[in-house]
Amino acid sequence: MERMTYTESEPVEELRRKVQELEGRLAAVEGRGREREERRGEAIVAARNLSKIYGEGRTRVVALSEVNLSIRKGEFVAVQGASGSGKTTLLNMLGALDRPTRGRVVIDGIETTKVPERKLFRIRREKVGFIFQTYYLVPTLTALQNVLLPTMPLRANRDLRDSAEQLLELVGLRERMDHKPGELSGGEQQRVAIARALVLNPAIILADEPTGNLDSKTGAEIMDLMHRLNKEQKRTFIIVTHDAKIASGTERVFYLTDGRLYSGGGE
Ligand SMILES: Nc1ncnc2c1ncn2[C@@H]1O[C@H](COP(=O)(O)OP(=O)(O)O)[C@@H](O)[C@H]1O
Ligand SMILES: [Mg+2]
Repeated sequence: MERMTYTESEPVEELRRKVQELEGRLAAVEGRGREREERRGEAIVAARNLSKIYGEGRTRVVALSEVNLSIRKGEFVAVQGASGSGKTTLLNMLGALDRPTRGRVVIDGIETTKVPERKLFRIRREKVGFIFQTYYLVPTLTALQNVLLPTMPLRANRDLRDSAEQLLELVGLRERMDHKPGELSGGEQQRVAIARALVLNPAIILADEPTGNLDSKTGAEIMDLMHRLNKEQKRTFIIVTHDAKIASGTERVFYLTDGRLYSGGGE
């Protein structure tokens, strides 16, 4: 038991050594934290501790709870969740259509949750392409005019028109350019909406149940088209769906349950 007894100075020496060792470990942990932070910097869109609460008192709903998400340029990601799990709420936060109760969102280096409302429309237009379950095309406009819609605040020019036409060709609608939505099938209308989402070269494309109104064959075709645009044009897609079959075809799947996001395998 000789080792258990020490002189006055030994405990102090021992403590000093321990403190140094702990400081070393802390520095290593902090270093790794910084590395992680830097890797996050590469993310085209990231959400940190994102929460959204609707209403208050008896109508209070926690639609999103402490969601963390980081998506790199060129990824194709699906978020799968049941009806009411918070999918639309998540996309609305990521696309700066609505503000979170807590947490932050960074798109292409811009912390949108800090941007004042009057400047947000421009960031939405330039950084985010939206695709919806019910297409949201303007019925009185042709396919080409619908694709050009997001460019309207800009000066109309030949280049924009050319790229809109090329996009319609890319989605297989060269022959339908002058048709109005009422003269197109559901699948064709969603193709127009996809071309519209791409026209300003957004950093990310968010799709809310993009196949929800389509039969399974047409839905699969729309998924194939989005996958092709992801591969060939390095477009970044985040789709949300309740459909496990639709989600399973993508590189990375997250699961949303009661507003909590779970990674489907290694972030
Ligand atoms: N504007 C709102 N006001 C109050 N509650 C809402 C609102 N939007 C959505 N919710 C609620 O938040 C939860 C998540 O909704 P939502 O994001 O639309 O889910 P999902 O798209 O997965 O069906 C649901 O319980 C829904 O009722
Ligand atoms: Mg929804």
